[in-house]
Formats: sequence, structure tokens, C-alpha cells
Amino acid sequence: MTQATADTITQRPGPAAQEIVARDQHVLAPVSGRVYPFVMDHGLGCEVWDVDGTRYLDMNAGIAVVATGHSHPRLVRAIQEQAARFIHMAGTDFYNEPQVKLAEKLQSLMPKGHDWRIFLGNSGTEAVEASIKLARYATGRQGVIAFFGAFHGRSYGSLSLTASKPRQRAGYFPLLPGVEHAFYPNPYRPPLGSNPEHVVDTCLDYIEKVLFETVLPPQEVACIVVETLQGEGGYVVPPADWFPRLRQLCDQHGILLVCDEVQSGVGRTGKMWAIDHTGVVPDIIASAKGLGSGMPIGACIARKELTDNWLPGAHGNTYGGNALACTAAYETLCLVEEGLMNNAREVGDYLQGCLQQIALHQPHIGEVRGRGLFIGVEFVEDRATKIPDHDGAEAVMIEAFRRGLLLLTCGKSTIRFCPPLVLTKAQVDEGMELFEEALNAVYPR
Ligand SMILES: Cc1ncc(COP(=O)(O)O)c(C=O)c1O
Repeated sequence: MTQATADTITQRPGPAAQEIVARDQHVLAPVSGRVYPFVMDHGLGCEVWDVDGTRYLDMNAGIAVVATGHSHPRLVRAIQEQAARFIHMAGTDFYNEPQVKLAEKLQSLMPKGHDWRIFLGNSGTEAVEASIKLARYATGRQGVIAFFGAFHGRSYGSLSLTASKPRQRAGYFPLLPGVEHAFYPNPYRPPLGSNPEHVVDTCLDYIEKVLFETVLPPQEVACIVVETLQGEGGYVVPPADWFPRLRQLCDQHGILLVCDEVQSGVGRTGKMWAIDHTGVVPDIIASAKGLGSGMPIGACIARKELTDNWLPGAHGNTYGGNALACTAAYETLCLVEEGLMNNAREVGDYLQGCLQQIALHQPHIGEVRGRGLFIGVEFVEDRATKIPDHDGAEAVMIEAFRRGLLLLTCGKSTIRFCPPLVLTKAQVDEGMELFEEALNAVYPR
């Protein structure tokens, strides 16, 4: 049923899609880096149709955003009902229940033993921006540590932490002062030539023995901002002892631990927060993307002690916690809690198992890794040298698109699978058939 024929391959993109792409080029700034000409018409769950009526299986969910699937009926109904009541009433100046309901829900989903307070924004970058500002404000310190390979957003504060591609920073200097970068513990590509077993030691030593002893006295550091699983940098899963030891380091120096869960949070890994797999409790979690299932929202969720003295007006925005976005986020969290989180774990394990099987006979796949429905497949020229096969990964993504499977790359040469959390095993089987066809087209056997 899913076998791509020469016909089905060549009809993507069709004439209607081509016409919109052509118009787009006359009106939209070219700064958006579209990867292939998919032009959305409508979607349901993990299936999407383009403007020519061609169906695709969506394994990227609008960059890990549409957690509950495209146009989940419960979200659509809740948004429509809310829109008929009111759409917006600035949360910075007025009270409204959708914000309170969402914040209560978020609070209930945070690790027990602490009291939490929530600041609402519109996006991931705003959630990170609020986290940096709060950390500086609450500690009175200025220094911030982030990690090479990180992506935290593109507004000036978060861009200063982002370090995954030089293109994202070029032309924008100077960035925020007081920011230093350290190494993320990537077991597949251990930094500084270290042994994979010692990758955590190497990364912590760099912070303690290089940063703290040369450029950044620890007593000046407000926070360490870290992606719980590194996303844009290549879907990297750190070793199990990374977070407990990073927490220890932070506690030793009174530094706040900020986990950026914009891409990895809200059930995607099989637990509500990716950090829940580690037993560590951070001081702040930045959330967005999957939180609103497509409605623009971001949240900075912080320990209450940190927000107690955040004076009214010290931070704010006009649209943050917009009523429609809050309603969508509340429904999303309910659906994730009711079952999608478990589905992400079960179907994610199944998907990862299928990809591991494919990797057994595909030497250009260097590694398959991930947690739940956050899975990366890294392409290499060969497994011995591990030289990233950037062109290979891009070509597989394009061949998959031509066969009706939407994927995205990340890092230098990784294809990420971050589908809606409603994905079924039958859809995995369909996707794997298309993925194998794409692999065979790029790497003929
Ligand atoms: C981990 C992480 N943090 C922050 C952001 C920025 O989010 P936004 O694009 O909504 O500003 C992203 C976006 O990809 C992300 O993956």
C-alpha cells in the first residue's frame, strides 16, 4: 500500500504546492530555511495532506510541536469554545481563568517537595529568556553557562546560549556578555578526545577546572542552562550520571539549574518531563513547543522561592498566556497525562527497535538513540571514522519526502523522529517501509 512508484514520487510537490511556493518567494523573507516543498492543507493525528491532496505521514510534528496530533478534536473544540467567549485579555494587567487553570495543571505535574510558580510567554525562546532573567534577578549574579551544540532560541538572550550552528549567530554580535559554553556529554562523540565511559568526568572537569579556574568564578554564575536531551544539536542522550552530578556541582556553588525542555518535555520521552527520568529536580524548567500542541505558548516554571521577590512589572509581555493558547495547553497536558505519555514510551520503544533493526544492515547509520518519541538516527560515512555524512542525511530526508514521509534533520548528520505522541505501531510500520525505501535510494545496496 505504501510502496512508492515512479508516479507517486514525481507528483510531489504538485502544481498547487508549486504555485504557493512561487508566491511565497515574492513576499516572505528568505531567512526561513525551508527544507523541502511541503505545503500543508490539513491534517489529522499523524497524517497530513498537502494542497494537491497528497497524503504524508508526519514524523516531525512541526518540529516536535503538535504533541496531540494535528487538529485533535478535543483541542479544536476547546479552542473554539474559548474563542467564542474571549480570545485575549492581557495577563500582565488582568486576571483570567484559562491562565490560572493551565498554571494549576502545570504546578500539579512538577516534582513534589517544592512549590512552583509559572510565568507564561509565547514561545520557547521567551521561556528561556524569562529563565535567564529570573536566574540573574534572583541570584544577583550575572554569569551563565550553556553548552556547545545547544539550541535555546533566537532572541538575544537565548541566542547567546545557542551554539549549534554558526549561521544562527553570524552577523549578530555582540551577544550577551557573561555567557560561557561547556561540553555536552555526547557518548557517541566524546569531547576533548575523552573515553566514552568518562565523558561526564571530562565535561564536568571542563566546567570546574577550566571555566571556574580561568574565566568564570563560580560565585559569579547565576545558572547553568542545559537541554535535558540535546535537540537541534543532534538528538543526544547524556549518560545517566550526568544530571545528578551536574545538580551536585550547582548545589556546591549556589548555581541554579535550568532545564530547557522546550523540545524534549510534555510527555515526549514517556514521562511528563525528560528530567523525570533522572531523579533530579531542577530549579527552573523552560517549556514550549509540545505544550500548546501548535498554539504559541511558552512557560518558565520556577521554584517559588525564586519568584517570591520578582516584583510586578520586572518582566512581562502582551500576549503571553493568551486565552486560546492556555486552553490548548491545558487540554494537551490532560491528554498527555491520560495516555499519550504512555503511548510515547510504548510506540517510541517500538520505533526505536525498528530503527535499530534497519541499522543492523545499513553501515551509514552510525547510531540510533533516544527516549520515547524523541529519536535520532545519525548518519556517518563509515562506522570506523564516524565522519558525519551530512549530505547522506539530507538526501534521505528528501527521498523520504518524495515518498510521503515527513522527516527533519538536526545536528551535522542526524535525522530526528519526533512525531505526534498519538503515533500508532501501524503508522511506525508504514513509516519504516518508506524510510527503508529512502535509505535504499540514497545508499544502493
Ligand atoms: C530546546 C529548545 N529551546 C528553545 C527553542 C526555541 O523555541 P522557539 O522556536 O519556540 O522560540 C527550541 C526550538 O527549537 C528548542 O528546541
